[in-house]
Amino acid sequence: MYPRERYGNTPDSVIFRFGIYPYKMKILQSWLQVGAIFDLIETEQIKTFIEVGVYEGGFGSLVSAKSFYDKEFRYFGIEIDSSVVNIDFIDQCRKAGNLIFFGDVFDNFTLMRKIISESKGPVLLFCDGGDKVKEMKTFYSFMRIGDIIMCHDYMPELTPAIGSVLDTDIEFLTFNDNFDEVSGYRWKYRMPAFRCIAKQ
Ligand SMILES: C[S@@+](CC[C@H](N)C(=O)[O-])C[C@H]1O[C@@H](n2cnc3c(N)ncnc32)[C@H](O)[C@@H]1O
Repeated sequence: MYPRERYGNTPDSVIFRFGIYPYKMKILQSWLQVGAIFDLIETEQIKTFIEVGVYEGGFGSLVSAKSFYDKEFRYFGIEIDSSVVNIDFIDQCRKAGNLIFFGDVFDNFTLMRKIISESKGPVLLFCDGGDKVKEMKTFYSFMRIGDIIMCHDYMPELTPAIGSVLDTDIEFLTFNDNFDEVSGYRWKYRMPAFRCIAKQ
């Protein structure tokens, strides 16, 4: 199974319950992961959070709400299937001055570049769409110095789980001199995260 020594006595429901409903919309993450992303947003002074793969908007609604109180913070979500997204979340994004775009992330490189380049501070790009590895491999080169790219579904010890991210999948970043791995995120939160420290 998974290494219990990494988590101590943390309840399994906190580590591996990938279906939580704080606002009744489903979030396909655990509470531990939601907290870890907010910790990263705060500690890294993230100014733009990009969510590739929004699903219902359960997680997006938590992040987007930050813009009501932090005027420098922006949320951008991109989702291929508009039918899965909660309509009230779309409304919340509009009221908060944020953007949710419906389309295939791989057909929208110009938009992705624009959102990243217009950010007035570090970007956190969260790859949680249909193919996390392809998203990481496609968009890491879009990162500016100080931006962070991370993905969901890193679970090598549970392989072969379909769609899970393995160590070999992220070697292009682990061994990349232009990126630093954000400590702890791969192992503790199952979300490898890499900070761009130099441009190629
Ligand atoms: C795992 S769910 C996202 C969960 C959400 N981030 C959360 O934390 O609750 C993946 C979503 O990615 C969307 N998706 C799949 N391929 C995509 C693509 N190429 N571009 C944009 N969205 C995509 C799917 O429709 C699905 O809603």
